Amino acid sequence: MNKEQNKIYITTPIYYINDRPHIGHAYTTIIADVLARYYRQKIGSDNVFFLTGTDEHGAKISESAIKYNLDTQDFADMISSEFFESWKKLDISNNGFIRTTSEKHKTIVRDILLKLKELKTPIGNDVLYESEYEGLYCVGCEKYILESELIDGKCPDHNRVPEKLKEKNWFFRLSDFIPSIIEKIKSNEIEVFPETRKNEVLGILEKQSLPDFSISRSIKSVPWGIDLPWDENQKCYVWVDALSNYITALDYPDGENFKKFWPADIQLMALEILKFHAIFWPAILMALDLPLPKKLAIHGFFTIDDKKMSKTLGNVINPNDLVEKYGPDVTKYLILSQFGFGSESDINVSEFPAKYNADLVNGLGNLVNRTTKMVEDYLSGNVYEKYEIREDSLLELVGENIECLDFRTALINIMATIKLTDQWIDKDKPWELSKLEDEESKIKLEKVLNASIVNLLSIANALKPFMPNKSQEIIDILTAEKIVKPEFPLFPRIG
Ligand code: MSP
Repeated sequence: MNKEQNKIYITTPIYYINDRPHIGHAYTTIIADVLARYYRQKIGSDNVFFLTGTDEHGAKISESAIKYNLDTQDFADMISSEFFESWKKLDISNNGFIRTTSEKHKTIVRDILLKLKELKTPIGNDVLYESEYEGLYCVGCEKYILESELIDGKCPDHNRVPEKLKEKNWFFRLSDFIPSIIEKIKSNEIEVFPETRKNEVLGILEKQSLPDFSISRSIKSVPWGIDLPWDENQKCYVWVDALSNYITALDYPDGENFKKFWPADIQLMALEILKFHAIFWPAILMALDLPLPKKLAIHGFFTIDDKKMSKTLGNVINPNDLVEKYGPDVTKYLILSQFGFGSESDINVSEFPAKYNADLVNGLGNLVNRTTKMVEDYLSGNVYEKYEIREDSLLELVGENIECLDFRTALINIMATIKLTDQWIDKDKPWELSKLEDEESKIKLEKVLNASIVNLLSIANALKPFMPNKSQEIIDILTAEKIVKPEFPLFPRIG
């Protein structure tokens, strides 16, 4: 973020509701939360907007509702609220929660479609045009399926050969925007982070000839969606509907939030949806003559104990279970300290208890306990000089890591400061100093305990974006009139 920046808009993808919230969704949402909390500290709460939400249209959703024997909207309400509640339990600090079935979103998307229909591309063609869509239609699924999805030429779910069908759809003239998109990604006007993902997108843009994409589907193939305002037999293509959430949530075009927060500063996602965000989304925005997102930040797709997360394998991790066991702060800490941002990794929940005991019980918790106990016993709860919580070097260091999305290094740096403080205490041995009567030993005792308190305050301050509640608890203990050892451990040991 450059120095003069005075607002920040952070988004996660909006999650499909044919799946329940799992640790994959939680990962992106936690990253956004840390960023939002960090920037609120840095530039003030009013200047940060953090958006998440649910993507609720499309054939998949209506099919899931049928499986549950529920009305589609009731089904959408049910799963969307599971996401909403999960983020509450994880203490996620989102400012907005957008649902694509909300009236506000639907109305704005219809306005966007009507606008697009009137607009021209940079070389003067109509942005939207009507054309034939030809595809393989499986009557069993009641939807178009891809050649690549067939097994022996048949739909695997219905074991029947799909029909070749043609329908009239509305198309978005992507081809006219491609040269501009390439230039904007190359020049980092839209920064695709990390660099490897930028190269992947440029590879797709430069080497493949991307077809225009249809912005509508017949209600026969997609019955659940936003009506095309000028054709009641067509629904808006789910990705146009979904991507628009980033501006409908801000009340595009005239809302105060839109004026203040658009363009997005950081749009987070995993790599499987990068193409939509780096190609389709900028094209739509350019057509609407809107500023483009500044940064698309792409993290890896992770597996669970080396296997893809799936219902069939029964290895889906529900974030609520982790919160129940560890609480929201610790869950965030454990997830973020497992691997770096960009890597495609494995998440190993069986390692969580050992990591928790090592870093938080024996590390941070123990340092708080021993320091406060010594101040209570040897200095009657008073350190000889109260220090203000400062924007000190640790926070600066961690701030740099956070801004580069290197959360793991931020946490490693914080843990290193905890170790270092423990080593100082071990070296100076306040328990021995306390037995000595001479002035020099007394001053040394006060100094070492004072330094530990200052370090701990600085650690708690640096941990605020990651563990807001635990950090505040530590700050409250250390800034109380009299410092005493907490009655209950901050991080109880687990077996
Ligand atoms: N609805 C679309 C996104 C529309 S955004 C305009 C969608 N939804 S999704 O439910 O499939 O969510 C995908 C996102 O969830 C990923 O991009 C990533 O942010 C997160 N993850 C889901 N599973 C994940 C992993 N196993 N690993 C890492 N992130 C994961 O796509």
